[in-house]
Amino acid sequence: MNKVRTAVVGLNMGLLHAHAYKLSEKSDLRWVVDLDETKASQVAAELGCKHTSDWKAILDDVDAISFATPHHMHAPMALEAIAAGKHVLLEKPLANSEEDCLKIIQAAEEKNVTLMLAYIVRFRASVQRLKKALDEEEYGKPFNAQCWIQGYMAPNPGSWFSQKDKLGGGVLFSHGCHYIDLLIWLLGDPVSVAGLGTRLGTEWMEGEGTHHGILQFKSGALAHLFTSWATKYKSPPALLHVHTTGGCFILGDDKLEVVTPEGRITLYEPPQSKVANSSALGEVEHFLDSIQTGQRPMTDGYEGMKSHRAIWAMYEHQGTPISWEGRQD
Ligand SMILES: NC(=O)c1ccc[n+]([C@@H]2O[C@H](COP(=O)([O-])OP(=O)(O)OC[C@H]3O[C@@H](n4cnc5c(N)ncnc54)[C@H](O)[C@@H]3O)[C@@H](O)[C@H]2O)c1
Repeated sequence: MNKVRTAVVGLNMGLLHAHAYKLSEKSDLRWVVDLDETKASQVAAELGCKHTSDWKAILDDVDAISFATPHHMHAPMALEAIAAGKHVLLEKPLANSEEDCLKIIQAAEEKNVTLMLAYIVRFRASVQRLKKALDEEEYGKPFNAQCWIQGYMAPNPGSWFSQKDKLGGGVLFSHGCHYIDLLIWLLGDPVSVAGLGTRLGTEWMEGEGTHHGILQFKSGALAHLFTSWATKYKSPPALLHVHTTGGCFILGDDKLEVVTPEGRITLYEPPQSKVANSSALGEVEHFLDSIQTGQRPMTDGYEGMKSHRAIWAMYEHQGTPISWEGRQD
């Protein structure tokens, strides 16, 4: 099968994509693109490809493009690449509004190109092992999950991260969408959500920098997600706990354990010879396979947007919690 001619636009998070395309035998990495020409030329020299600061100039020389650019650029960039008949792997989120997400999805369908959202967390081997254990009810049915994302972002006033219209919201939309996606993937579609956010500790951001979200799923299971960019000092109990009728799964950075009546069992541990960048490699290879086989990627536009819809509903709810004021007496 012919290699897919690839390019990456935006070389911060996009570096992971570029290295993975370079590693994959299914890809011919042609271009790396960044407005910062020095950065682009350094990456191109390292990976043995061409570089430019003008991504539109490379359209005739590629089949597929990864965009890892600020969120407000996702819709215009994806729409233009799709109009030119290119397959698109978009860093999350798909776009900052439902209207723009649907425009991208429809454009990809009309042009019959592959559109995939980069939810890299799904490609961790430990997470895939957890998905299998839950789907096969190895330890019974899940009824509760708790996820702790204690992140820290150095204050960056004036940057696109600080501006709500560019970021699309706050930390929940930007970083939390990975974990809302994960909870939905593991536990099914949500039926109701609630959320509260605060700017305390991240006053440099217009959107919330710390958020608590709650979801209830069709099965009746509940989940709670704590996301933050303010937690400089931290001690997360784990990334995720999932309680089932027969145990409690504990997902660490890249290790999966389960607590059972027989004790604590390790279900997945990374091998010592683990390939660097293996989740990004799994992610881009899934994209390249989808292009080559014509099958829809696991995180196509509709699947990708599920987390966004849950988050937008949480933001809507944010204004209407029951006030405690006046009830203390
Ligand atoms: N999966 C993850 O865990 C993860 C982590 C970080 C970021 N991201 C996602 O990656 C994307 C980028 O985030 P980031 O943190 O790398 O942002 P960033 O601002 O640090 O980097 C963006 C890069 O894009 C370049 N760029 C901007 N406009 C461009 C244009 N018109 N043409 C070419 N290059 C352009 C900038 O020069 C910069 O180097 C976002 O969608 C973000 O949500 C994902």
